[in-house]
Amino acid sequence: MDIIRVEGGHHLEGSVSVSGAKNSALKLMAATLLAPGATTLTNVPNISDVHVMGKVLKGIGATIDVLDEHTLRIDTSSVDSWEAPYELVAKMRASTAVMGPLLGRFGKAKIAMPGGCNLGARKIDMHILGLEALGVEFDTEHGYIYADARAGLTGTNVTLEFASVGATENLIMASVRATGTTVIDNAAREPEIVDLASMLNEMGAKISGAGTPVVTIEGVPELHPVEHRVVGDRIEAGTFLVAGALMAGPAGVEVIGFNPMHLNMVIRKFEAMGISFERTADGLKVSRVERIEPIDIQTLPFPGFPTDMQPQAMTVSALADGNSIITENIFENRFMFASELVRMGADIHIESHHAMIHGVSGFSGAQVSSPDLRGGAALVIAGLTAEGITEVSAVHHIARGYERFVEKLSSLGAHVEHASVPDPDLD
Ligand code: UD1
Repeated sequence: MDIIRVEGGHHLEGSVSVSGAKNSALKLMAATLLAPGATTLTNVPNISDVHVMGKVLKGIGATIDVLDEHTLRIDTSSVDSWEAPYELVAKMRASTAVMGPLLGRFGKAKIAMPGGCNLGARKIDMHILGLEALGVEFDTEHGYIYADARAGLTGTNVTLEFASVGATENLIMASVRATGTTVIDNAAREPEIVDLASMLNEMGAKISGAGTPVVTIEGVPELHPVEHRVVGDRIEAGTFLVAGALMAGPAGVEVIGFNPMHLNMVIRKFEAMGISFERTADGLKVSRVERIEPIDIQTLPFPGFPTDMQPQAMTVSALADGNSIITENIFENRFMFASELVRMGADIHIESHHAMIHGVSGFSGAQVSSPDLRGGAALVIAGLTAEGITEVSAVHHIARGYERFVEKLSSLGAHVEHASVPDPDLD
């Protein structure tokens, strides 16, 4: 069994560079399907979710050349299948992002229905309702969704019930090839959606309003391949800023390779907790916080506080001088990490989608298990501050979205390593 072993109590100093954003890279890879020919993506993170999306694309006939560790040339000229199979969708729900581009280019898609996952039900009903409005017909059979738009996609007005990131992206990617104009109202505004719209516009699409609640897409007859750089990962940046806030030595920790504007609400809330940041030429520098103020945070779609930073924020608040409250509004099961943090000495009480956190003076190292991607990273960070050794298992969750997490933390001076331990004997 692979684990990450952390020896707590060592200061962090220096500069760390974040990779390209997972949530952008996955959608940009899917979007290459819209432009026959070879699109080159740079600053692609080398993480396991990207490898899964690579498998989805290759499975439908695309070829992928890895030009260097962070540069992929994806040729979608010879795509001859329209299916995202169950074994890949079950591994990574974001595989469903190929539905919009497959419909846009070929008018058909066969996508395995995503089952429940450890973040809750994660339905795709809004994707389907929006695509139906564009003229797509759906059928479900044997665990698969069959989507048919061979009669053509027609631009229309779609109002999303909730500003879903995935639904906004699938609708944008289908409607770029529709006849006429599509207007998505209550669209998600995440920076990764702006990145997707930018690449599609470079390819010849006519999308305006990305990053606002109303996105307008004027359909075009074809798109052409381009070269595009993936935006820096704001969540990876936020994760390292939390590590620095808790453990930086006198010189502080600088995080580079992302746009600090993408973390506005996170920075505002962290400043209210007493953490101080300094703008540098390439990013942000964080100093170690002396006394953590308690906080009230609720997760919301961008520009609200991101759910993907919630476990990291809870780790900080668990060490605050007082009582904090964190409300999770996006995913129903995203507090599973809290019970692991309790094993390290945190005092957290969960009631439905609220967490009441009574600050403690420190964590103690323990064996804990990553419940999911962000929760796993937060446990490693908790281990950096803890007294003694922390062993985090189920680290494949962390590898889904953090490139060289252990190596990057080590480069800052953390005492952290990958290790292998025997599987527990269960008989
Ligand atoms: C994306 C991100 C994820 C982030 C989330 C919210 C990727 C690969 N993942 O996920 O890291 O945490 O945005 O910022 O980009 N919902 C429905 N029906 C739908 C669609 C969504 O009920 O048709 C619900 C989901 O179950 C969830 C909420 O809406 O509770 C938010 O989902 P959504 O914004 O779509 O997130 P994802 O695109 O799945």
